[in-house]
Amino acid sequence: MSQNALPGFRDFYPAEMSERNHIVRAWREVARRYAFSEYDGPPLESLDLYTRKSGDEIVSQLYTFEDKGGRLVALRPEMTPTFARMVAARANALRKPVRWFSIPQLFRYERQQKGRLREHFQLNADIVGEADVTADAELLALAVDIMKELGLASSDVRARVSDRRLLQALLLHAGVPEAQLGVAYGAVDRMDREKRGDAEERLAAAGVPADAIRFLFELARPMTADALRAEYGGHPALQAHVALLDRYFAHLEALGVADWVQLDLSIVRGLAYYTGIVFELFDRRGEFRAICGGGRYDSLLDALGGVDEPALGFGMGDVVLGELLRARKLMPAAAPALDYWVAADDEALLPSVMSLAAALRTGGHSVEYALRPQKLGRQLKSAAAAGAVRAVILSATESANGRATVRTLADGSERVVALAQLRATPGGYGVVRGGDGFADVR
Ligand code: HAM
Repeated sequence: MSQNALPGFRDFYPAEMSERNHIVRAWREVARRYAFSEYDGPPLESLDLYTRKSGDEIVSQLYTFEDKGGRLVALRPEMTPTFARMVAARANALRKPVRWFSIPQLFRYERQQKGRLREHFQLNADIVGEADVTADAELLALAVDIMKELGLASSDVRARVSDRRLLQALLLHAGVPEAQLGVAYGAVDRMDREKRGDAEERLAAAGVPADAIRFLFELARPMTADALRAEYGGHPALQAHVALLDRYFAHLEALGVADWVQLDLSIVRGLAYYTGIVFELFDRRGEFRAICGGGRYDSLLDALGGVDEPALGFGMGDVVLGELLRARKLMPAAAPALDYWVAADDEALLPSVMSLAAALRTGGHSVEYALRPQKLGRQLKSAAAAGAVRAVILSATESANGRATVRTLADGSERVVALAQLRATPGGYGVVRGGDGFADVR
């Protein structure tokens, strides 16, 4: 039997689990600051939830099977359809705007590569019930604040934003026939991953005129909001979209995240349901894949639940984010989890060791002791190996007098303290890392 997990699946030993928790803690903390409520849904859904609206790429990556009741089911490859289904089912009862987040584990049968696995954890933050760009700005600010919370700066990460409505208007304006818009989106989406010649051939074969193809490749060049306004702000078919983006950028400025954001019309997003502003976060050096992606999907709730409500959201995975934090030395090492190790120089003291451990735990401290008889030296070695901040040493003579020795392992300093005081030590994780406040009773 293999000792390895399946390809693309991870084992989380404690060191990896600590890294995952570091990311998840930041997700929860920033979501809380933005007044988002946490929800979850089932990891297994009916297959047609995804085949209806998510798009071919994700459908081709589904883990899908027939269950014993003959239902076609799939492990969730993304959270958005579940979210849309859940909100649509209670749409009338929910206070709007809905601001919800979730941290599901998702499954996609992808080719395993840097930044891409077959399972990942993904923060999903979504808003339902607000059509204005205020909501789009709020959402992007949330994604950016997570970067800040994790120690990243605007010199590390950039948000590339676009608007599908604007892109559509631009492509139509440039002469892409309406029926070929899908092919054109595909080419824009894959622009940085595909040879230009291949895309040109495909577009030409689909009937896109040569001028329009040239225009499409020019879209990839960096463009400021000012340049966009100067070029298209007066054009009847485009000006409303340009004005909307202007307001979006003004809101991002007011929310203090404008430094992070860049207009980039080549951002389309691979999923089929997006209808408006879309965005992705990337590391500025371009070493990693997208950290996060999302946007507005105003028709999905209607398609999945017959509810006409505007919606928008993003997904941020733990894989790329973890790679980036490690590369920028921003991933903290696992913190020692142990406040006290209780040791004794006589195995007959085990009941006292246990009783003291219980009292310290009641006080909120993390405590370990040897589960089998061991020499004192051995116990103290175990204490150090476990990363304990302090060891409490009970000895036959001292404990008879109601006293114990507390040793701080970092510097070996010791003091003798009253057991009663030790037992009553108020705690909470980490309290002992400061001054211990014990009175030496020697
Ligand atoms: P997505 O772009 O497919 O969007 O995924 C969002 C993020 O999840 C990606 O930027 C990446 O960080 C991470 N991710 C996706 N697939 C993998 C994988 N195979 N391995 C590791 N990380 C991965 C969505 O899923 C949308 N449903 C997001 C959304 C929520 N849109 C609106 N609300």
